[in-house]
Amino acid sequence: MSEETKDLKHGMAARKAALQLFQAALSRRGGLDQGLSDTGLHGLEPRDRAFARRLGMTVLRRLGPLDQALDARLAKPPPAPVRDLLRLGLAQVRYMNVPAFAAVSATLDLAQTDKDARPFKGLINAVLRRLSEEAIKDDDPEHLIAPWMWARWKSAYGAEAKAIAALVAAEPPTDITLKDSGQAEALAAPLEAAILPGPSLRVGLKGDISGWPGFTDGSWWVQDAAAAIPARLLNIVPGQAALDLCAAPGGKTLQLAAAGATVTALDRSVSRLRRVRENLARTGLKAEIVAADAAEWKDARTFDAVLLDAPCSATGTFRRHPETLWLLRPGDLATVAQLQKRLLDAAAGHVAPGGRLVYCVCSLEPEEGEAQAAGFLKRHPDFTLEPATPGEGGAPLASLTAEGTLRILPSHLDGGMDGFFAARFIRNA
Ligand SMILES: C[S@@+](CC[C@H](N)C(=O)[O-])C[C@H]1O[C@@H](n2cnc3c(N)ncnc32)[C@H](O)[C@@H]1O
Repeated sequence: MSEETKDLKHGMAARKAALQLFQAALSRRGGLDQGLSDTGLHGLEPRDRAFARRLGMTVLRRLGPLDQALDARLAKPPPAPVRDLLRLGLAQVRYMNVPAFAAVSATLDLAQTDKDARPFKGLINAVLRRLSEEAIKDDDPEHLIAPWMWARWKSAYGAEAKAIAALVAAEPPTDITLKDSGQAEALAAPLEAAILPGPSLRVGLKGDISGWPGFTDGSWWVQDAAAAIPARLLNIVPGQAALDLCAAPGGKTLQLAAAGATVTALDRSVSRLRRVRENLARTGLKAEIVAADAAEWKDARTFDAVLLDAPCSATGTFRRHPETLWLLRPGDLATVAQLQKRLLDAAAGHVAPGGRLVYCVCSLEPEEGEAQAAGFLKRHPDFTLEPATPGEGGAPLASLTAEGTLRILPSHLDGGMDGFFAARFIRNA
């Protein structure tokens, strides 16, 4: 086989893996993570794997503008596999500097392998060629997210909504949390990292994290800078008993254990708890693991510190999961808010008198954040909101609300951070 034919084959395999990746992501929640660990991607050589991953993610990040451009050129909606191939082809031309002839011919080769797409090769060819000739304008941030989500963010965050939505298009950096925050200076240099408030480190190295300094000896774990803030609000004193009620995969459990707490880490998902165990083993930290439904779990103990990082719409994690913004349906918010209310009421029962409860969600939606905190205080007069102080736990100053809760927006940090809501309550002694 000539080198050229080999190259083309690699190109095909990488594009097919990219197609499967974004199809998996858009098919269901959790699909992206599964797609990223799929053998289709891992069977590729490193260069092709990187291309496939970037291409699949580019389609997800630019889904709105891609579909808009395609809809403007299509007289009627094409079958799903044809639309997906068009998305794949156009993303290469528009956002990845792939020459049009290469993107079009690779897309047609893929269409040839799919019996449902094969009859549409003429259409695919014509639409991609026509669109490749169009001048590329910058995408308007509001088109990067579903229209109903844009309307919500606009109403909740006003002018800031544009800066938030613009981050959908950008690949996020990797942040880590250190087991011993005193090591921040020492680890920053080998990891080519910037030290962020908290501290978290924003790592400059790329590629396989298991080769980065400090991974094998468990000196740190990957955790977005925003995700590391809520657990710090518990202000753990070594020896205190802490309960992490929705613990997996364990980033916040590790923080509590590293701060010296005796931790009970509970989650309903046995498979996700495996990740908590692995993370504890690698970092040499300890926690009691409980597989249970937090809404039903009964235990005779009470805890000095309780963390409820509740299941949520996860709209704040769109930088790594842009598909979330397309999978979510308006009705989902009421369902998840109802579950959060039940979990918060259950969490309250585990807090010792004088103890703290931190509630947080990686969501940008007020019904999962501000409304939950207000509702909780009304239902539980034995709890008081303990306001966060400016910059506490590494929180951006702009995230502190008038009530003393944290509304962390992705645009609050240069380079972005996850969106989070966090509130701290104290149980009257
Ligand atoms: C936002 S994630 C938690 C992330 C985790 N705190 C961390 O920092 O790594 C939410 C978790 O809640 C768990 N969960 C959902 N419903 C639950 C329930 N009723 N009881 C216990 N855990 C639940 C999910 O399995 C998931 O692991």
